[in-house]
Amino acid sequence: MTKRKPIKKAVFPVAGLGTRFLPATKAIPKEMLPIIDRPLIQYAVDEAREAGIEQMIFVTGRGKSAIVEHFDIAFELETTMHERGKDLNALEPTRAIPGDIITVRQQVPMGLGHAIWCARAIVGDDPFAIFLPDELMIGSPGCMKQMVEAYNEVGGNLISVLEVPREDVSSYGVIAPGQENGALTEVLGLVEKPPVDQAPSNKIISGRYILQPEVMRTLENQEKGAGGEIQLTDAMARMIGTQPFHAVTFAGRRFDCGSKTGFVEATIALALEREDMGAEIRAIAERLLAN
Ligand code: G1P
Repeated sequence: MTKRKPIKKAVFPVAGLGTRFLPATKAIPKEMLPIIDRPLIQYAVDEAREAGIEQMIFVTGRGKSAIVEHFDIAFELETTMHERGKDLNALEPTRAIPGDIITVRQQVPMGLGHAIWCARAIVGDDPFAIFLPDELMIGSPGCMKQMVEAYNEVGGNLISVLEVPREDVSSYGVIAPGQENGALTEVLGLVEKPPVDQAPSNKIISGRYILQPEVMRTLENQEKGAGGEIQLTDAMARMIGTQPFHAVTFAGRRFDCGSKTGFVEATIALALEREDMGAEIRAIAERLLAN
C-alpha cells in the first residue's frame, strides 16, 4: 500500500436555502434540523472525525450562523449546567479543536460546484473530502471511513454511490461504471441529473466525495450545467482520464434527509435502534399502525 497524502480537510456546503422544509427552515438552517436529538450537521461532522478528518470547512451564507454556534462553547449554558450539577456529556460532540472550524461565505447560490470552489483558499493543495449533510449515512465504519480506506489503496478521486430505481436517477449525479472490484467501481463517466432514458446506469452519487485539489482549477472557469447551476459533477467528469476515479459502494444505510419522507424514515429508524427509547418507540409505532 502506497502512503497517500492524508485526508484532513472536509468541505460542508451548507449555504442552501432549505426551501423544501419551509416554514421550519425560515429562521433556522436545514442542517440544524434534528434527527431525534442531534442536528443533521452533527452526524456529518461525527462521520468526518471518525475518518480522521480534522478541519471542518463550512461554506455558509446569510442566516446560517447557528451551524457555527453549534460547534462553539456556549459559556452561559455550560456555567449554569455546571452550577446545577447537570451532566455536560450531551455537549461532547459539539466540542471542536480551536481553529478547526472554518467558514467561508457563498454570497449567491450558484450551485454545488460554485459552493465547493468558494473553499479553494482553505483547501489549498491538499486532497479533501466533501459531505452533503442532507445525506445521512449510517454504518460501522462510517461511509467516509470506508472511503478513506479505499483512498489509501487507489488514491485519486472517489465518490460514494448507491443504486436507486431507474425512474429516480434524474434527481442525482449518475456514473457510467467500468470494472468492478469488490466495493470499488471504476468511474468512466459522470452526468448530472440525466433524463431516465439517457442515464448511463442506476448508480447515483450519494453525497460523499474525496477529491484532488485540481478540481478547484477545473471549477474556476466552468460554465453552468444542469438546472443553470455550476455543477460539481461536471468538474469531476472533466477530471476522468487525468487522475484515477473510483466509486465506493457504501456498506451501510443511507437516508435522504433532503426530502420530508426520508427525514421521517431516518427519525423512525434511528429511534427504533436507540437503547434509551427503542422499545417504547416500537410499542408506539405498533399501536399507531394497528389503527
Ligand atoms: C447533489 C449533486 C448530485 C448528487 C446529490 C446527492 O444534487 O449535484 O450529483 O447525486 O447531491 O444528494 P442536489 O441534491 O444538490 O440537487
